[in-house]
Amino acid sequence: MPASEPQPVTTPLTRAAIFLVLTVDAGGESTVREVLADVPGMARAIGFRNVEAALSCVVGIGSAAYDRVLGGARPAGLHPFAEIRGPRHHAPATPGDLFFHIKAEQQDLCFELASRLTRRLRGAATIVDEVHGFRYFDRRDLLGFVDGTENPVGVAVDRALLVGDEDPDFAGGSYVVIQKYLHDVDAWNAMAVEEQEAAIGREKLSDIELPDEQKAPGAHTALTSIEDADGTELQILRDNMPFGSLTGAPGGTGEYGTYFIGYTRDPAVIERMLRNMFLGDPPGTTDRLLEVSTATTGALFYVPTVDQLEG
Ligand code: HEM
Repeated sequence: MPASEPQPVTTPLTRAAIFLVLTVDAGGESTVREVLADVPGMARAIGFRNVEAALSCVVGIGSAAYDRVLGGARPAGLHPFAEIRGPRHHAPATPGDLFFHIKAEQQDLCFELASRLTRRLRGAATIVDEVHGFRYFDRRDLLGFVDGTENPVGVAVDRALLVGDEDPDFAGGSYVVIQKYLHDVDAWNAMAVEEQEAAIGREKLSDIELPDEQKAPGAHTALTSIEDADGTELQILRDNMPFGSLTGAPGGTGEYGTYFIGYTRDPAVIERMLRNMFLGDPPGTTDRLLEVSTATTGALFYVPTVDQLEG
């Protein structure tokens, strides 16, 4: 059992989400501290008006902001997101002091909480990225594949997500990595479905996993299925969401893709998956997904326990 109550990191995927990344303004630290302490209560009050919609909000704090806003001892795994620059692909590190992962079955509840939080943070923190995610049919990404199938379930969830005895002062906390990916859907759709399936490692319509020999070198699921030295699978919890606008980008070609969000008890697990994807495993065999997906943001946050947040 975790020493103190975790934030709602293990709640099921929902139909809607808002992802907000903010930087803390100079002098804004004490206001931010007060607002963060109120987040669980605000989410409870707004969510209670429609309990069926399962509103939840997880707060993450970046490495530099941790000392400014919370102070004291630091969680062992907290550090800035390290960019990865390979010969073919680049995972950039972008600014982020605070992260709000707001999700519910209805977008109105997400919007209500997001707007109230950011109103209270006005003058103390600045929004640097805002993404509104939506469920796409039967939990598909905009490339048309079901996304989230191999997430851990049951007791494996807490084991994969929550800090334990390895860092006892922070037991019940977690870490979250986010990256905003834009897709070249035209290039993807020009590929034969069989080629897409080999690149992902699963059948497109049925979502059934392909036998290993049918997966392409650099298949996404092959590069992200990793084990520790004892052969135990290392799992993370992904809460990815499609997002998009049709006219936002120059030329009106739109900006749409996948908001990657992965929770883990140990950031090294996600960092290893990212190295496999961006540098390749073996080196050079990079993720086929990256040929049609460009990472435009990247940040790592510690997810305090509720007690730490309400401090
Ligand atoms: C599996 C899509 C980025 C980690 C999958 C699957 C899809 C998918 C369709 C197969 C179904 C499933 O098990 O969920 C995407 C897209 C991404 C993306 C569209 C962004 C362009 C990432 C990143 C990571 C990651 C950045 C980790 C750093 C995983 C893992 C699995 C997975 C661990 C399960 C592998 C297995 O055990 O079979 N992803 N993904 N994904 N993805 Fe991603």
